[in-house]
Amino acid sequence: MKMENTVNNIFKVDYDFEAVRAVEPVNEPERQYYYMEKAAEVYKLICENAGKRLTFNCNTFGCQMNFRDSEKIAGILEKIGFENTEDKSPDFVILNTCTIRENADQKVYGNLGYLKKLKELNPNMIIALCGCMMQETTVVQKLRESYSFIDLIYGTHNIYKLAELVFAMFALKSYAAHHPVKKNGKYKIKHSMLVDIWKDTDKIVEDLPDERKYSFKASVNITYGCDNFCTYCIVPYVRGRERSRRPGDIVKEVKCLADAGVIEIMLLGQNVNSYGKGLEGEKGEPVTFANLLRMVEKVEGIKRIRFMTPHPKDFSDELIEVIADSEKICKHIHLPFQAGSNNVLRRMNRRYTKESYLELAGKIKTRIPDIALTTDIIVGFPGETEEDFEDTLDVVKEVRYQSAYMFEYSKRTGTPAATMEDQVDAEAVKRRFKRLQDTVAEYADDKFGNKVGCMAEVLAEEVNSEEPLIITGRMSDNTLVHFKVPTDNKEDYIGKLLKVKITENCRFYLMGELS
Ligand code: 5AD
Ligand code: SF4
Repeated sequence: MKMENTVNNIFKVDYDFEAVRAVEPVNEPERQYYYMEKAAEVYKLICENAGKRLTFNCNTFGCQMNFRDSEKIAGILEKIGFENTEDKSPDFVILNTCTIRENADQKVYGNLGYLKKLKELNPNMIIALCGCMMQETTVVQKLRESYSFIDLIYGTHNIYKLAELVFAMFALKSYAAHHPVKKNGKYKIKHSMLVDIWKDTDKIVEDLPDERKYSFKASVNITYGCDNFCTYCIVPYVRGRERSRRPGDIVKEVKCLADAGVIEIMLLGQNVNSYGKGLEGEKGEPVTFANLLRMVEKVEGIKRIRFMTPHPKDFSDELIEVIADSEKICKHIHLPFQAGSNNVLRRMNRRYTKESYLELAGKIKTRIPDIALTTDIIVGFPGETEEDFEDTLDVVKEVRYQSAYMFEYSKRTGTPAATMEDQVDAEAVKRRFKRLQDTVAEYADDKFGNKVGCMAEVLAEEVNSEEPLIITGRMSDNTLVHFKVPTDNKEDYIGKLLKVKITENCRFYLMGELS
């Protein structure tokens, strides 16, 4: 028979997929370990057909939450056997998507255009999409209709199930290769897209493998999802309801990381300081973020603790005290305020006022004088007037942030703000955005200047790719420091806390010399 796209189909394997499914374990994580083992068996057969080991590349968009998820994806795929590669044309591409603003979506569609061409050249290439964007029904519908070459789509809630999904995808591909269909007198292998999206979950699956990007610093999830429902934000819809991991599980993970040589921990959550809702301590006491920090602080070997992101409405006095008294918690707080006008804040459903935010920022600065504050600001929220915008500038001038992430408001379908009247004119948004940038720069906290001539403790993070003998690291307050090292063995310094003499203030970073 005459075959099209059947040449060299590497997925045609002799394997009893049904027998494997018939005895699958019910409980997690055993079930996923079982599927990792079975997917590894199939992977070997596919590699034999291909005559090489198959590679994967996970391309991550968005926030630290997504980057952490990608470490879990890498862990599972490596366990199956795939080789992690930076190559632009791997055998298995995963796009871990973000949908926080419109341009995040655009980047993914741009990538898909490029991948379509690659797949035309190599029909055996596997393309998977996961992450926040996949939780939007309209997106998945569009992908089904216009990007039918994708092999696997899954969401944010079932990321732990990746081994099982890869196994199911192998089964589909093998079946299709064994059963080509006749179309216009020619035999073709039918392509199918495997889609598994969950609306929500209350599940947290612990103890799955992961492949950490760094050996000396690590992110640790403490909460998943978000219950705040800020009216501009898509996160509660794509990441589900807020769930806190048990403190024991978190501390166990931090201890393991410390044993493996990690010295800096980043505690991650959409709203870290509401951590513990719905949990009870051993004696029935409430579980709070402040208490969790105390526990993590006790872990030997951990030298620095960071967290991202706290919400101003949940920032307790107790939390300020814990940070102030701690030797390990870094002197940097990212405290998004989004907008200065009470009117806008109310319509954003932020549940604080300009006055209460300024009071909080003031309290933090008084109690922890060496703290660096950074923030997120949205310009052009629906109905924002020039007067409202002046309130935003007031906050910037009064708090004096070290730096700020500034965003033009982006309409996200499905959020309450998307249907609000008075969407702000694009010209006005551009004008305000520029003014905001200038104001943030003009009023930026000039701690940088004060540091010249001082000794700073810097965690050496990476070797500068352009400048020989230069290492880039961070101080406790997150200031970026580039410093020279005397030898060629630059790698020896990475992951170490070093004393660096600050020699120059370059506005966005400092230069220094190893002392
Ligand atoms: N438009 C613009 N910025 C947004 N953010 C969240 N949703 C939107 C949106 N629809 C910003 C907020 C948040 C940061 C992660 O992204 O400032 O703190
Ligand atoms: Fe983007 Fe939000 Fe998802 Fe992070 S949680 S990847 S910011 S949509």
